[in-house]
Amino acid sequence: MLTAVEIEAKAKELKKRGYPVISLAIGEPDFEVHQNIKEAINRAILENKTYYPDPKGLIELREAIAEYETNRKGIDISPDEVLVTAGGKPIIFYTIFYFCKQDDEIILFEPYYLVYPYWCKALNIKYKVIKLNEDGTIPRDELFKVLSPKTRLLIINYPNNPQGSLMNKENLDLLLEVLEKFPRIYILSDEVYSELVYEDKHISIFTYNKNRVILLESFSKTFCMTGLRLGYGIFPREFVKDLTTMNSNFITGPSTPIQYGGITALRDNEVKKYVQYMREEFKKRRDFLYDELKEKISFKPKGAFYYFVKVPYDGLEFCNRALNEKYLAITPGILFGESFKNYVRISFANSMENLKEGIRRFKSLL
Ligand SMILES: Cc1ncc(COP(=O)(O)O)c(C=O)c1O
Repeated sequence: MLTAVEIEAKAKELKKRGYPVISLAIGEPDFEVHQNIKEAINRAILENKTYYPDPKGLIELREAIAEYETNRKGIDISPDEVLVTAGGKPIIFYTIFYFCKQDDEIILFEPYYLVYPYWCKALNIKYKVIKLNEDGTIPRDELFKVLSPKTRLLIINYPNNPQGSLMNKENLDLLLEVLEKFPRIYILSDEVYSELVYEDKHISIFTYNKNRVILLESFSKTFCMTGLRLGYGIFPREFVKDLTTMNSNFITGPSTPIQYGGITALRDNEVKKYVQYMREEFKKRRDFLYDELKEKISFKPKGAFYYFVKVPYDGLEFCNRALNEKYLAITPGILFGESFKNYVRISFANSMENLKEGIRRFKSLL
């Protein structure tokens, strides 16, 4: 039996050997980086902006981030609260490592992004898992059962990977109540899909209590900059100095020219239109897949670019068969939590042509 990582590696290998592989496994937009972003990066290199960056992130980029987030969130955000990293992932590690000590506990919500439990385990921090309702809402009673004076961190992810659910008002109120009742708790709010919302509105808990919430954002999904590795965290101000030291001792910061590309991504009007175009394209793909899958799912994703689908038997076995027999790569649900052994994740970050053929192959296995 192959593991998920091996499925992806095998898909690539089969493709290289000429097999007609379609990969709906990876969480990566298939669009190109906008030309203006590429030019800004190239210009930075030609102008010798190639020296060590400020470990907090270039001030011009932090100003652009602060302005961008202030506009989106409608609250004042200062460049001094921003820490720029190589993609969003380091913020997950930094937050767990910095905030949680030996006896502390973390609460994760299933289905989760697998990087959260990875770092909890690697850093030897206990964590408890609560299964979300299918619409992404947090079951209140379950949450209050596991909260304790040891709880230090909650990690939430809206729009959710792989469910595509959004934070709703009820969840928001519940989490704000938790912050009020448990003064040691912080929330890491992973919002890397916040620009990919197709219905309803993205609600960010960061807007409502930025003294106790760490916002995780990334250029990967919104601006298709996955391989350029640029992301950021916005932290309560008192922690930024320590976290900057951590960033400095770890990677110093993301590549300087890429940070110039980030400024263009946030400020350029053509890029803004491009993001809007991609959102509309993703929505068309989501709607196309919905028509194909509606009998098999109980929740239509409102954001991100995945369908999380229950299959008739073990998801890992299903993914193996899909790849070996149909040359279709998809991701087994077990990666998103123990409760999802019979699920698979299908990404719609792929061309309509590949989606049509991919879903035909998928259905032929049911
Ligand atoms: C929920 C979630 N958070 C964070 C990330 C990290 O993205 P990056 O490190 O590319 O910014 C991803 C990437 O797939 C993700 O799905």
